[in-house]
Amino acid sequence: SYPARVRVVEVGPRDGLQNEPGMVPTDAKASLIEALADAGLTSIEAGSFVSPKWVPQMADTSAVLARLRPRPEVAYPVLVPNLQGLERALACGVREIAVFGSASESFAERNINCSIAESFERFTPVVERAQNAGLRVRGYVSCTLGCPYEGEISADAVAEVASALIKMGCFEVSLGDTIGVGTPLKARRMVERVATDVPPEKLALHFHDTFGQALANILACLELGVAVIDSAVAGLGGCPYAPGASGNVATEDVVYMLGGMGIATGVDLRALATAGQLVSRQLGREPASRVARALAAR
Ligand code: HMG
Ligand code: MG
Repeated sequence: SYPARVRVVEVGPRDGLQNEPGMVPTDAKASLIEALADAGLTSIEAGSFVSPKWVPQMADTSAVLARLRPRPEVAYPVLVPNLQGLERALACGVREIAVFGSASESFAERNINCSIAESFERFTPVVERAQNAGLRVRGYVSCTLGCPYEGEISADAVAEVASALIKMGCFEVSLGDTIGVGTPLKARRMVERVATDVPPEKLALHFHDTFGQALANILACLELGVAVIDSAVAGLGGCPYAPGASGNVATEDVVYMLGGMGIATGVDLRALATAGQLVSRQLGREPASRVARALAAR
């Protein structure tokens, strides 16, 4: 059966914007995050403390965080790849971070410049230090339904990385279809396999919509007891180390679908769509979200 309530993790300000070639002004990023919080989102990934040489668009994450109005009810997680990133995050007073691993060796090498085994060695002290400082740590697994360099990825490999992240101390692991190649039955089988090692209450779905399958894939996995969905307002985005990959599933599309199914999200669709229109105007394009376009035409 479907969950009564789903927590939507908005990743647009990070996953959505990280690949934008033109620098998005710090104020525009902060305004987007404020608008998303106003729309009722309670988990908003606000940026990343990665190398600014690797991802220049995220270089101003500290400045973005400093502009946000404090809201005790909203979590603003940030990506952290190593201890240097953790130091920067701690200096900003963040309360939640995310480490990001991969089920594909080649993707790990391209994305974080190390093997999967080395990434575990790197994450272990990051998670430990973060937890000692009172932070919550989320984990990501990329390439759960395919890799831009290796093609097929086994569900066993995904389960292995996911359970390693949980053992390390992550409160939740988000399963990324980084390049959006998955289809419903495959997505469901992958999550079923991971759920034999990690309880579904600790899993999140992070599906990109490159091939237009993300909503169908989410629906296919929701019945397994997963109740956390990552999405990006207006369907922004793409990963810089996943060539050809487009944005995350649009938050508007997810909220509309769940609303229609009677599943609560706490998100105001109209306010959300307005936030999406604003950032899309800033970027000079139409929202990728079909729901956003339909609402705008009414
Ligand atoms: P490296 O070059 O191997 O790192 O990169 P290094 O430790 O050798 O350091 C090299 C330089 O970077 C040094 O500077 C460091 O100080 C600096 P230099 O001495 O040359 O002047 N540096 C840093 N600066 C600021 N903050 C830091 C930091 N670390 C090192 N934290 C590294 C390794 C992990 C740093 C690099 O590969 C990196 O930053 N990768 C991040 C790539 C990224 O952000 N990708 C996108 C996010 S993942 C994603 O989108 C997938 C996801 O959405 C899920 C899905 O869809 O599947 C999460
Ligand atoms: Mg992603």
